[in-house]
Amino acid sequence: MFKILDKKELCPKIFQFRISAPKLVSKALPGQFVILRHNEHGERVPMSIGGLDKENGILTIVIQEVGKTSAAMNRMKAGDYFQDVVGPLGLATHLENFGRCIVIGGGVGIPPILPIAQGLKSAGNRVEAIIGARSEDLLIFRDELTSACDKLHIATDDGSCGTHGFVTTVLDKLMQDGTPINFIISIGPVPMMKAVANATREQELNVWCSLNPIMVDGPGMCGACRVTVGGKTKFACVDGPDFKAHEVDFDEMTSRLKMYNADEKIAYDKFLHDAEGCAFQKSASETTSKSDA
Ligand SMILES: Cc1cc2nc3c(=O)[nH]c(=O)nc-3n(C[C@H](O)[C@H](O)[C@H](O)COP(=O)(O)OP(=O)(O)OC[C@H]3O[C@@H](n4cnc5c(N)ncnc54)[C@H](O)[C@@H]3O)c2cc1C
Ligand code: FES
Repeated sequence: MFKILDKKELCPKIFQFRISAPKLVSKALPGQFVILRHNEHGERVPMSIGGLDKENGILTIVIQEVGKTSAAMNRMKAGDYFQDVVGPLGLATHLENFGRCIVIGGGVGIPPILPIAQGLKSAGNRVEAIIGARSEDLLIFRDELTSACDKLHIATDDGSCGTHGFVTTVLDKLMQDGTPINFIISIGPVPMMKAVANATREQELNVWCSLNPIMVDGPGMCGACRVTVGGKTKFACVDGPDFKAHEVDFDEMTSRLKMYNADEKIAYDKFLHDAEGCAFQKSASETTSKSDA
């Protein structure tokens, strides 16, 4: 059992949890993930590591409510216990002294770029972060990334903060400022990671992305997280989650992510109905899509 030390609402439907997990935290590295169950009957869900307090054994994760299990988790409180937190899973992000590095995050892909930025900084790099959201109120981890990076760039779809546009609008400008970029990693919604790959393809930059396909077991046995990278089948839970972005088949991944949409929507509606017995909650699930993540 893993105790929730504190919980904070970062923006609507997105909560940060700090969980006591000393053994896991002592071994975990930037870029890895964990699989949690909120109770003994709960579904196993993967979540990225958004912070590692090695001194106090505290794991930070950030959960966006998109369906039944993330909704149940986001209703847990400080003092409650997760049934299991398994990890660290996956391969850590390869960190070395590259030179100039750009870490790019969108939605709940923003928290996991923080430990990566900190690791790149410790390795002696110049680290710039680009974070993007629909509007200013949905930007998360701004203070943390300002402290960890040499520069934080912000892009919002509606222009309410930073550059009016997408993370690739900022990236395009950085690619033209005359200083070579030696390493890029993007974490977030699949369309964002695909756009970053496309924007950097011609320049043949060293670009990575962290993939979030549907996962079931985590140690590579069920095949649920199959992705195609460089024409070969890979399992994101053991071969990734980081892959060379220019080699990923993002279209296949997008269609595999939608495989269970109808069943997932039924389960989410039933959860909201049972938990809150409130008719208007049904429409909440209709407006919540993973494209926000
Ligand atoms: C390595 C990895 C790291 C992740 N890190 C985070 C994180 O830090 N924070 C966070 O909030 N979520 C993260 N996710 C996604 C998270 O695991 C799913 O959102 C969660 O499992 C959904 O469970 P659910 O029962 O609430 O929703 P479901 O009912 O399973 O799904 C609801 C909706 O979300 C979509 N969806 C389901 N799973 C995924 C997925 N893996 N990726 C994209 N869309 C999905 C479905 O297509 C559906 O539209 C990560 C996934 C992976 C594989
Ligand atoms: S989650 Fe089962 S093989 Fe990766």
